[in-house]
Amino acid sequence: MEFFLDTGIVEEIRGAAPWGIVDGVTTNPSLIAKSGRSQKDVITEICTIIDGPISAEVISTDQEGMINEAKELATLHDNVVVKLPLTEAGIGACKVISGMGIRTNVTLCFSPNQALLAAKAGATYISPFIGRLDDIGHSGVHLIEEIRAIYDNFGYPTKILAASIRHADHVRLMALAGADVATMPIKVMKSLFQHPLTDKGLSSFLADHEKANS
Ligand code: E4P
Repeated sequence: MEFFLDTGIVEEIRGAAPWGIVDGVTTNPSLIAKSGRSQKDVITEICTIIDGPISAEVISTDQEGMINEAKELATLHDNVVVKLPLTEAGIGACKVISGMGIRTNVTLCFSPNQALLAAKAGATYISPFIGRLDDIGHSGVHLIEEIRAIYDNFGYPTKILAASIRHADHVRLMALAGADVATMPIKVMKSLFQHPLTDKGLSSFLADHEKANS
């Protein structure tokens, strides 16, 4: 399973990069806005830190505008993946852009049928938003399970990129449900390391070592 960081803050990415387990990065217009910088600057800098897929989202809502933006974003770095919303224009743009060899991430997916559309349009990634579904009392995990089954039924190569992950247990559930990728905020990635018995065990090992060598 691949782990992506879901952020536009480069300091967070620099802090996590030495762990060696960050395979890529996702951004969206809200995350870029939080950074206070331009999308171009943020994406270009991220590409110098992580050698993996870096998602950059278009702002246009019409197909032609999306295609033009996608071409421009793709010139920033070979690792740029163009993020497109799951609308009629977004799916149409996905089909055209995929045909040009540009990698795509279809975002704002909330149903299996939407995921099917993205796969048919040749999307590299589909981003189902788990947390936002859970927030309204639906099951994000069930959505991933259904998309996994549909993609496996037809052998679609589109990767399932579980997004809108809110806590560590979402990551476990996504791994069990067969998501190819989990993108998560730095806080969630850090929480994956934590277990009280690890801390307790380590401090007693260190205390015993200290005693034996004093
Ligand atoms: C990433 O690709 C998504 O845009 C992001 O995970 C959405 O997360 P949110 O629901 O916490 O805004």
